[in-house]
Amino acid sequence: MKIGDKYLEHGIIQGGMGVGISLAGLAGAVASEGCMGVISSVNIGYKEEDFLTDPFGANIRALKKHIRMAREIAGGRGLIAVNIMVAVTHYEETVKTAIEAGADAIISGAGLPLNLAELVKGTGTLFAPIVSSKRAAVLLCKSFLKKAAVLPDFIVIEGHKAGGHLGFSADDLEADSCRDNLEILSEVLEGIRPFEEEAERRIPVFLAGGIYDKADIDMAVKNGAAGVQIGTRFIATYECDADPVLKNVIVNCNKDDIRIIKSPVGMPARAVYTKLLQDLDAGGHYPAKVCNNCLSACPKGDKAPYCISRALIAAVEGNIDEGLFFCGENAHRVDRIMSVKELVSELIG
Ligand SMILES: Cc1cc2nc3c(=O)[nH]c(=O)nc-3n(C[C@H](O)[C@H](O)[C@H](O)COP(=O)(O)O)c2cc1C
Repeated sequence: MKIGDKYLEHGIIQGGMGVGISLAGLAGAVASEGCMGVISSVNIGYKEEDFLTDPFGANIRALKKHIRMAREIAGGRGLIAVNIMVAVTHYEETVKTAIEAGADAIISGAGLPLNLAELVKGTGTLFAPIVSSKRAAVLLCKSFLKKAAVLPDFIVIEGHKAGGHLGFSADDLEADSCRDNLEILSEVLEGIRPFEEEAERRIPVFLAGGIYDKADIDMAVKNGAAGVQIGTRFIATYECDADPVLKNVIVNCNKDDIRIIKSPVGMPARAVYTKLLQDLDAGGHYPAKVCNNCLSACPKGDKAPYCISRALIAAVEGNIDEGLFFCGENAHRVDRIMSVKELVSELIG
């Protein structure tokens, strides 16, 4: 398929997964199979020596390195994108760095990326917002047109079955009253149609959240999606950049272990109910020893029940006791680790 002036063999985007879960290894391997591999930018420099003293410098340096390495691994196939959450501090500088380092696309969610179009316009890099409703999709299209006279190159819809932070209220998620992925897809397609007609071009829409197999992909495409974005299934691959302990938390979890939690940044999120979450429920309080001010929405210092960055770094490093293990609703169906090649060929049939 053609997106802007770039080509994608298969309509599969591997969702950006922070901290450190989708770096050059995973994104490059996914791109080498003709899909879109996505590097997560959040605290990407966590392994750099100066991460605690100069987190911004460490993150920028690591981002450039991972884009370059992912390209090498991809061997000229697929696309390499960077996921940059609106909620990170230094959002604009991170977007500019990803563009300069040659990212094919920037994908932004966890907030409304209202100024993304201006930052990307004229650079040759594609851009896409992540939305969870027609309202957000329409608002962003209007805002991009008004501020930069462009429409997004593609859109990712994240439904309520996704992993990580979710764009729904806790009440909706608990009551299971969230509208189905396909309902949201149809509403978003309806909402963006007038913009497509006016611009005389299609905006490809990728559906995310709980996409597990080829049947899910076929269903999304039959209902008007250009393709899908998948997170959790790509964790259980040899090429995923996380410690094997994290991969096995996903492989070994049961349906009952998967919970909706309230993240310190105020949004609901989905995660495996491991020791850290059990300890927090029992009254534990683990504020950051050193706060690097990485997320703008995070209550600073002692006010946060725990440091989410520290907990996500612990998870990617395989610390089962202190880690926070995000996952999608279908994580319990994942039963083994395989190669990206095998997973992609299973998904495309
Ligand atoms: C471990 C994990 C970390 C994630 N981190 C991010 C992130 O940093 N930024 C983001 O926009 N989405 C993030 N997501 C969401 C994924 O990119 C993807 O859209 C979602 O997981 C799709 O649902 P699925 O896991 O059921 O396939 C994360 C998801 C998981 C499971």
